[in-house]
Amino acid sequence: MAEHPAYPVGLRLTGRRVVVLGGGHVAQRRLPALIAAGADIHLVSPTVTPSVQAMAEAGELTWHQRPYEEGDLADAWYALIATGDTEANTHASAEAERHRVWCVRSDDADAATAWTPATGTSEGVTVAILTTDTKSRDPRHTAAIRDAVVEGLRDGTLVAPHHRTRTPGVALVGGGPGDPDLITVRGRRLLAEADVVITDHLGPRDLLAELPPSVEVIDAAKLPYGRFMAQEAINNALIEHAKQGKSVVRLKGGDPYVYGRGMEEVLALTEAGIPCTVVPGISSSISVPGAAGIPVTHRGVAHEFTVVSGHVAPDDERSLVDWPSLAKLRGTLVILMGVGTIGKVAATLIAHGKSPDTPVALVQEGTTAAQRRVDATLATVAETVVAEEVKPPAVIVIGEVVKVGPTTTA
Ligand SMILES: C[S@@+](CC[C@H](N)C(=O)[O-])C[C@H]1O[C@@H](n2cnc3c(N)ncnc32)[C@H](O)[C@@H]1O
Repeated sequence: MAEHPAYPVGLRLTGRRVVVLGGGHVAQRRLPALIAAGADIHLVSPTVTPSVQAMAEAGELTWHQRPYEEGDLADAWYALIATGDTEANTHASAEAERHRVWCVRSDDADAATAWTPATGTSEGVTVAILTTDTKSRDPRHTAAIRDAVVEGLRDGTLVAPHHRTRTPGVALVGGGPGDPDLITVRGRRLLAEADVVITDHLGPRDLLAELPPSVEVIDAAKLPYGRFMAQEAINNALIEHAKQGKSVVRLKGGDPYVYGRGMEEVLALTEAGIPCTVVPGISSSISVPGAAGIPVTHRGVAHEFTVVSGHVAPDDERSLVDWPSLAKLRGTLVILMGVGTIGKVAATLIAHGKSPDTPVALVQEGTTAAQRRVDATLATVAETVVAEEVKPPAVIVIGEVVKVGPTTTA
């Protein structure tokens, strides 16, 4: 007899009894989805993995600490049979058949009355992939198809025709430090849905090249601002485009709230009644040192790191930074926007007690193809920056963490 394809269905298990036989790695892998579905899970097994035990202790399932017994499946709506004992599994699936309980078997798909698809979710949609028959059943193949579909939906490269989702208003998206792979999945999806992208110079510029020609890309630095401040011009552009009903992405380097003026834009948009969402990004303050082999903390070396803006020098009356106090900290100092002021910063830190030998690293254009690391000490950093022609954007790291990695030059 020809084998018929399985009939796909979504089980609504909330509050319904589901019996799981076995508490090993198969059960462990399948349980989170059953828990998420709100099933009343009864797990029967003499032993369980530590993760399954934690689920039982958290009250997410009821653990019956004993082997399978005839009758366990009587009141179940659905069963997962995954003990390490084939005989017990066969016995249990026969019982499931008698009680008309759909059952999945980890050891013998042919003997099961149900198969678990490879599943993934994206924005309110569950993608479930099943092979059509037992012969073509290959879990790695279905998982790979699932990954391709879910990743495509998440990053926006796969869009249902005639159903392009649009997020009205403005999304402030943290683009990460520069490597296009270091934007979040949500950020990338919103970018793929955008009608207008207003971008900075920092961040993942390569992603802009992937946008369809219909997307209007505006360089924030080139917005005319006449009698306004540059930031006001950006706020106005965001508001005007959003008011035209367009999906607007404000793409920023790193994280929108780390020296990114993100909240100024949120406040302006809120005042104008424009819906606004903020997508965090990987900040250069941690990721750029990391990309150059420098951890901002390290056990036994630095228990804290402090991120500071160096855009104004310590002797500038606009400075809000307490440099004398920073000189007394043992931990790591991470300075952004500090290439131009590092000479004065280093002198101030030394004057307030920091050792002139304190290691310093400057990481220029971190995570991009042009990444470059230059090492110095507090005493030498001013002349090193000039001699090595270090240019912004660069992250400056001051502290012993500079020396803990396998290499000190890149
Ligand atoms: C206006 S701040 C924005 C910071 C950003 N919001 C973040 O979270 O990374 C710009 C500064 O971030 C640092 N920066 C950002 N991206 C960088 C990169 N790829 N390499 C080195 N420094 C970077 C530089 O210090 C630069 O002057």
